[in-house]
Amino acid sequence: MSVLVTGGAGYIGGHIVRLLRERGDVVVVDNFSTGSRDRIGDVPAHDIDLTASYAVNELRHVLRTHSVEAVIHMAALKQVGESVEQPLRYYRENTQTLAHVLEAMEAESVPLLVFSSSAAVYGSPESGLVREDDPTDPVNPYGASKLVGEWLVRDVARSTSIRAVSLRYFNVAGAGAPELADTVPANLVTLAIEAVTEGRAPKIFGDDYDTSDGTGIRDYVHVQDLASAHIAAIEYLRGSPASYSVFNIGTGRGASVREVLCELLDVSGSDLTPEVIERRPGDPAEVVADTSRVSANFSWTPTHTVRDMVESAWTARAHSER
Ligand SMILES: NC(=O)c1ccc[n+]([C@@H]2O[C@H](COP(=O)([O-])OP(=O)(O)OC[C@H]3O[C@@H](n4cnc5c(N)ncnc54)[C@H](O)[C@@H]3O)[C@@H](O)[C@H]2O)c1
Repeated sequence: MSVLVTGGAGYIGGHIVRLLRERGDVVVVDNFSTGSRDRIGDVPAHDIDLTASYAVNELRHVLRTHSVEAVIHMAALKQVGESVEQPLRYYRENTQTLAHVLEAMEAESVPLLVFSSSAAVYGSPESGLVREDDPTDPVNPYGASKLVGEWLVRDVARSTSIRAVSLRYFNVAGAGAPELADTVPANLVTLAIEAVTEGRAPKIFGDDYDTSDGTGIRDYVHVQDLASAHIAAIEYLRGSPASYSVFNIGTGRGASVREVLCELLDVSGSDLTPEVIERRPGDPAEVVADTSRVSANFSWTPTHTVRDMVESAWTARAHSER
């Protein structure tokens, strides 16, 4: 039996594939639009565009020939700003790919699915700890496409023998190896690394929030901890009778924007000082995952610190630019 990772050549997928490989058989499906073959070495990989109408048949062939037991569906587009400019493209990429995966799984009787969702489904929640049963109200097409994906998975799981979980990742950063680095500057850590590398001060959006140092607080999860959560999710699915569940994947601890940037400036040896600018509209003061559900159900505990995360991201990025 093996695990299929769609989007396995991507940043997070590359980390998951590496972990799975140490444990057994893994196969990747990717169209390499943002992913790279360098991340997966000699793991079997099939170049399939999961939005295409031929995808279901090709996926069925992959599921059969590799005796797949579980699918981790990561393939998606993830840039919030781009999703606002190109909503049709985001809905197509993030929901059609998933529908094709579910169709192929059902046809081949593949029982287990882990779906990559996002804390973006919550939108701009009230400040503080966020629980899985809090209201979902995405504020951009990316978050909305993930929420539609969750509903699709839930409804198919209810009406078939597929058992599934949606994992709502909080803020993901870090790298488990230089070649697995996140190369797209789109979040606090990657944008700050880009700024420092170019000699620009990293930006802080507002320092007048009601938090310990006035800057926003978020839950940052190291990508290696996130990868091991997927292994734990498959274990959970193997032993659980539930057809569908949702889990927050974060550390349950908040770090401030200033704290993350100070760690970065320290590990990079930079003497730049963060530049404080206006708050961004809709940014809550504090958003941290309530992790009680995942702690009660998964055999998983995140072990990396914010320092580990920033240091590994910096080292990996510096390596990839050589
Ligand atoms: N990185 C984050 O901070 C974050 C946070 C929350 C959720 N997520 C979700 O995690 C997943 C992986 O994110 P990532 O950061 O590794 O992104 P990534 O862009 O590095 O990886 C996405 C992978 O999917 C592949 N892909 C995209 N469209 C495809 C298609 N039509 N057919 C086949 N393959 C396709 C890409 O080539 C790439 O390898 C996504 O579903 C994303 O929405 C990421």
